[in-house]
Amino acid sequence: MSFFEQIEPLKLAALAEFAAAPDFAALEQAKGAHLGPQGRFTALLKQLGTLPKEEKPAAGKLVNLAKVELEAALTARRTELELKAALPKDPTDFTLPGRRRPLGKLHPLTRVTEDIVRIFRKLGFAVADGPEIEDEYHCFDALNTPADHPARDSQDTFYLNLDRAVPGAAGAPPPQTGRMLLRTHTSSVQIRVMQGQPPPIRIIVPGRVYRRDNADATHNPTFQQIEGLYVDKHVTVGDLKGTVEFVFKELLGADVKLRFRPHYFSYTEPSFEIDFSSPMVRKMGKEWLELAGCGMVHPKVFANVGYDPEIWTGWAFGFGIERIAMLRYEINDIRLFYENDTRFLRQF
Ligand code: DAH
Repeated sequence: MSFFEQIEPLKLAALAEFAAAPDFAALEQAKGAHLGPQGRFTALLKQLGTLPKEEKPAAGKLVNLAKVELEAALTARRTELELKAALPKDPTDFTLPGRRRPLGKLHPLTRVTEDIVRIFRKLGFAVADGPEIEDEYHCFDALNTPADHPARDSQDTFYLNLDRAVPGAAGAPPPQTGRMLLRTHTSSVQIRVMQGQPPPIRIIVPGRVYRRDNADATHNPTFQQIEGLYVDKHVTVGDLKGTVEFVFKELLGADVKLRFRPHYFSYTEPSFEIDFSSPMVRKMGKEWLELAGCGMVHPKVFANVGYDPEIWTGWAFGFGIERIAMLRYEINDIRLFYENDTRFLRQF
């Protein structure tokens, strides 16, 4: 076989072996067998010198082209093997959707609370805080609640076997009067804030409260309220109505209607209950839904915290956050908020 005739078959044999090498060791071995010092293709190169002078240039050119092709094939196979080594050993379906990290979210009650706080901030209200373990004085006496009022009954209030007063958020230690209890409303914080600073005052107080209620679709022994207190000179019921209407329209939509119905609270005079109407309430088969209590701060409350009732006027309100959230998200059972069932929480 002539020199020229040998080139192609040798090249093809080498290419086939390179392509078939199952791993790096096999590829190295194939490289040695063809291109190494004792390799078959190298042997062909060595024959080049024995050719007649006039054949050398053409033969050299062809052999070199073949060698370049072999080296390219080696590199290509090496890359292939590297890729293969990087792949997972188990069969993998790259068309499957990726695994997502579950994203956390705010609890619906937290969202409603934050929205309410944001709206009141627009009106210049600050957030105030107070203890959940409270004394009878701040929860009832200072709010002008009579000794025989049913809310003070141990049927309704959780009393504690504590003989020590818990300092309030406003800093001033409370007068040690009466028993310790779990606060039944956030109205106690009105007292603590007024004890701690002179008027004017513009605060809201989101917080947890406790009552001895059995849990059902609309009750739970612990729930959350927002209290509001505004104290200044010449404050009127008109200010109260305007503020409450602004807030609820921002919160629940412009198509809501509010109604102020006379009521009794010991710490406000006059007092009102705020009823609420909206397409959603009507969907629940009702015209009005009771939403909040409010009124003009009672002069005796001002006197109890050392504000002169001849100079200062104010309004206050309190409502349950769960009820707002139930309205907003059309939830029919309050207990769903506390069960931490992610099937429920994931919807918000
Ligand atoms: N404390 C009342 C309750 O828990 C709500 C309330 C009514 C708060 C009238 C107030 C108020 O500040 O003025 O039902």
